[in-house]
Amino acid sequence: MTKPAPPVATTSDLDTAVAAAHHRYRSRRPVSAAADERARRVLPGGNTRSVLDFEPFAFRVASAAGAELVDVDGHRYVDFCGNYTAGLLGHSPAPVRAAVTEALDRGWTLGAMHEAEIELAELVCARFPSIEQVRFTNSGTEANLMAIGTALHHTGRRGVGVFDHAYHGGVLGFGDVDGPHHPLNVPHRFRVAPFDDVDALDAFFARSGDDGDDDVGCVLVEPVQGSGGCRPASLDFLRALRRRCDEAGALLIFDEVMTSRLAPGGAQERFDITPDLTTLGKYLGGGLSFGAFGGRRDVLAAFDGRAGGTLTQAGTFNNNIASMSAAVATLRHELSPERIREVNERGDRLRDDLGIVFDRADAGMWVTGMGSMMNIHTGDDRLLDLLFHHLLDDGIYVARRGFIALSIEIGDDECDRLVTSTRRWVERRAGAPLRGTPT
Ligand SMILES: Cc1ncc(COP(=O)(O)O)c(C=O)c1O
Repeated sequence: MTKPAPPVATTSDLDTAVAAAHHRYRSRRPVSAAADERARRVLPGGNTRSVLDFEPFAFRVASAAGAELVDVDGHRYVDFCGNYTAGLLGHSPAPVRAAVTEALDRGWTLGAMHEAEIELAELVCARFPSIEQVRFTNSGTEANLMAIGTALHHTGRRGVGVFDHAYHGGVLGFGDVDGPHHPLNVPHRFRVAPFDDVDALDAFFARSGDDGDDDVGCVLVEPVQGSGGCRPASLDFLRALRRRCDEAGALLIFDEVMTSRLAPGGAQERFDITPDLTTLGKYLGGGLSFGAFGGRRDVLAAFDGRAGGTLTQAGTFNNNIASMSAAVATLRHELSPERIREVNERGDRLRDDLGIVFDRADAGMWVTGMGSMMNIHTGDDRLLDLLFHHLLDDGIYVARRGFIALSIEIGDDECDRLVTSTRRWVERRAGAPLRGTPT
């Protein structure tokens, strides 16, 4: 990925434009403004999921259907954020609603086993051939915690290899200035290497001492870094990582919480690399809370007491009937291979079109990603803020950080609308001093 030089604009010009955009946003959303004020009294920062907040305050959603969100002030938005990839099916898909309703009609919070979890495990194992056995969790974060713990148990080591800018959950973030020692991160013995750099892998596999128990027992990687800016790994890098893990006796864990949407069998199918363990989450639960970790049968045997396994997995809601039923409906009825291919091909076209818009205007903005996941970048976050608010004005919602995740409800018309709106904004800004006088 080559980074264009950051745009140079007059500070006062951009600051004035941002202030005007925030003022316009605020004046059109009195009901959301009041909700935000109310929220801030009882929720720190006014929310319970930090990524959803933005300046001057986040709109509150009244309803959602298909590809559309409606806020409490009556504004309608085409939803290109797609709940950060969890919304692949769009809002309120009928087969998922029917499956959940039918399951709830038969009772929930069972505190016992049922058949939906078996059916779901069969569907997951059939779809992702590297997953011979699987267990469920309530979130992608938990899935990664369980996968790491399982891998360290298997190898008898303590080191965990991760990559710069990776995000594997709220307690497994490596994009901060604080790095692996962020106070909210779990205290594993992380070794952090630059992403997509074959030579830097040496840092993982250096021996740690005489007994070697601090050696790297597993490496956790997203084949395409999602929250880290939709940066795809190169095939050479993933192949080298697979080989180096094998040579070192470390397990390779693919975090496919986001990337499993990139092909019917996930990014591992797209790259043709077989990890030892895989974690899943997001869209697979049909929009309900969900996570899963699975992979090699010999590794997962640690959870099978009859086979001598000594690990147990706790989690009151691991097999909750709503998520299990929603996920079964998702895999059985909603996500055919054709649909997966279609949404990713549409994403590739959208990314190309947006890239052309930014390139032609020499806008100091660019877009990266793969298939249905992409991220708009800029050297000056104020430009992204302005584009974000311009799109909201045009009835289009992308994530504030420029992240876009298509749902299967978004068609070519919606994509054209996003490209046209972006082009209008870029041209308008280019008329104004997008590359103005440095201050
Ligand atoms: C790659 C990746 N792994 C794990 C997670 C954590 O999933 P959850 O938010 O369900 O805990 C995320 C969430 O954004 C993610 O993008």
